[in-house]
Amino acid sequence: MRRAVGLYVHLPFCASRCAYCTFVTSTEAALMPRTLAAVRREVEPLARGGRRRLASLYLGGGTPSLVPPELLEPVLAAVRDSFELPADAEVTLEANPDDVTPERLAGWRRLGVNRVSVGVQSFADHVLAMLGRRHSAAQAGFAVGALLEAGFAVSLDLILGLPRLDESVLEATLAEVVRLRPHHVSVYLLEMDKPHELARPAVRHPDLFPDADAAARQCLRAGRTLVAAGYRHYEVSNFALPSHQARHNTRYWRGQPVLAVGVAAHSQGGRRRWANLDDLPAYLEAVEAGRSPRAWSRRLDEGEALRERVMLGLRLARGVTSPMVRSCRTGTAALGARLDEFLALGLARESAGRVRLTPRGWLLSNELFESLC
Ligand SMILES: C[S@@+](CC[C@H](N)C(=O)[O-])C[C@H]1O[C@@H](n2cnc3c(N)ncnc32)[C@H](O)[C@@H]1O
Ligand code: SF4
Repeated sequence: MRRAVGLYVHLPFCASRCAYCTFVTSTEAALMPRTLAAVRREVEPLARGGRRRLASLYLGGGTPSLVPPELLEPVLAAVRDSFELPADAEVTLEANPDDVTPERLAGWRRLGVNRVSVGVQSFADHVLAMLGRRHSAAQAGFAVGALLEAGFAVSLDLILGLPRLDESVLEATLAEVVRLRPHHVSVYLLEMDKPHELARPAVRHPDLFPDADAAARQCLRAGRTLVAAGYRHYEVSNFALPSHQARHNTRYWRGQPVLAVGVAAHSQGGRRRWANLDDLPAYLEAVEAGRSPRAWSRRLDEGEALRERVMLGLRLARGVTSPMVRSCRTGTAALGARLDEFLALGLARESAGRVRLTPRGWLLSNELFESLC
């Protein structure tokens, strides 16, 4: 029998562009029907060679919650035609708090969605305004509560390392998360390496932004609060109540196969990695003309595959096996030296045949991973 697979569907539409966002998105709602048709066209041939079982389906974006459920229905029907979607598969939809209405909740339920990932970012109104979010803190709390009450598994995203996020604001945001008790929490540090609007004031007024130490303190504090509330810190940026780890995302970290459709969608299977065009009009033109929307495809060589496994494995609390690290060390001397430093400083630990990073090690993991590239 063929191995089960994960499927990611990128739905790029957003009502407006947030100041910090680095995702491939579009505010041209008029392109929605064409884009959904293109996604369907990409899904249909995936059944060639036999219908595979889906372990997880992830509707990500962009803002999938913005797409009316009746427009999502044909996409889900195409997925069910091309794959076996068992009742216990994880089916996630990304939602903005302002889209969570009783009608949408009922629509998502009908479609078979059982997990909703909500972009909350902060429970402080002044921070939300600075981020260009379209919702208030109260609306975000209400949305999370309504989703929990409706029986969805709920994941909540927060962003730290932001200007004007002082200790008391962070504490209030964390207290609200703990009060709501979603099943899963993702805590991201504001990424500044890709261009976005919020990066501009950082050039002129770097003093407004927390420095690396202050941002790290915010992350450690969030981690301590969530762990004390019963969450397990199972990946650099992710916390889950028992048995609520994100199954789809875990596939990427474990190198398991994930097919992906939609503009800019990235797929992986074995050592092969491939991605679609990241320009929406170019993507649509290709699919509508019956051409492949693929931008590139490559096969990792053995060394690259091993380095990727170590790098992704160290993102997880379970870490990687010592022999795997050893074989990686042989090919990459810089990694060996860095890892020894991490072990000596208590930023990594080796026990029971595995190497794991500590929460402080995770915060410095970019330095370790640089030596793997
Ligand atoms: C595709 S977006 C979320 C879906 C939904 N559109 C929303 O905004 O609620 C996934 C998450 O990535 C995070 N994110 C986006 N840009 C980021 C950045 N520059 N730095 C850190 N996290 C970012 C946000 O927490 C966001 O909720
Ligand atoms: S954070 Fe979400 S809503 Fe905001 S632009 Fe990015 S994908 Fe769209």
